[in-house]
Amino acid sequence: MTEQNDRVAEVAKRLLEDARRAVVELQITENEIHAAAVFLDRLGKAEEFSDLLDIFLAVTSVVALKGSAGGTTPNLAGPYYKAGAPERSDGRLYEGALNEKEIPLTVRGTVSSVSDGEPVDGAVLDVWQADGAGVYDSDGYHLRGQIPVASDGSYVFHTVLPEGYEIPAKGPTTELLEMMGQHNWRPAHIHLRVHVGDQTPLQTQFFIDGADYLDSDPVDAVRSDLVVKTYDDADTGGKRMTFDIRLAEGSADERTDHHGPKALGAIS
Ligand code: BEZ
Ligand code: FE
Repeated sequence: MTEQNDRVAEVAKRLLEDARRAVVELQITENEIHAAAVFLDRLGKAEEFSDLLDIFLAVTSVVALKGSAGGTTPNLAGPYYKAGAPERSDGRLYEGALNEKEIPLTVRGTVSSVSDGEPVDGAVLDVWQADGAGVYDSDGYHLRGQIPVASDGSYVFHTVLPEGYEIPAKGPTTELLEMMGQHNWRPAHIHLRVHVGDQTPLQTQFFIDGADYLDSDPVDAVRSDLVVKTYDDADTGGKRMTFDIRLAEGSADERTDHHGPKALGAIS
């Protein structure tokens, strides 16, 4: 026999109370409940339940984006993080020449501590992003790299303006999203982790102001402090932006890498 679990009991009872209230308030019919149950069975058989709950209904985002006071808001890793990216001591995140359709982008900023405002000594940014067509390099380390932070807290890297991309859905998940009128396109963003020694006090992603889908991100991961304006950059003929990072105490607990659809296959 399974032992009683107080936490499961507390959460399950609360969710059921809320569901029952919704049934009354929305006047949900018995037929509708049966149809929903059949749908959930199909979803389970297709092994799509975890992606739907975590990602497409953005439930994980509620906790993954909970920051600490004054610190830069943390964010989802998504499925495309790849450990072991090379150090880019010249700040160049891309390998080879830029595709002629891509727009060069220079990102500058500082990394400081919320507690005293001082630069964080020994920090390194582990950056990964999609290219100008919305594609991540899963074979190599193009547009991935470790960017050193200088002793005055400043950093700079040279990259390309990323494009947004579509999270692939399938089967019963697609049916539900279509009925909900929800698309799967993520707004253009750049991911980073801040490593200090063997600690990773922050994992976040920042967004390109003006990008499509900022107001309708399917994973509900856009926060105002993470939306960054770009400006014309006379030096490169492309764009530049500034993203200052504030590290708050205790902001790295319980971070998990499971924030991408299984359909995509996490890289590690
Ligand atoms: C992302 O942050 O890139 C991401 C997050 C969840 C699902 C797919 C992508
Ligand atoms: Fe991403």
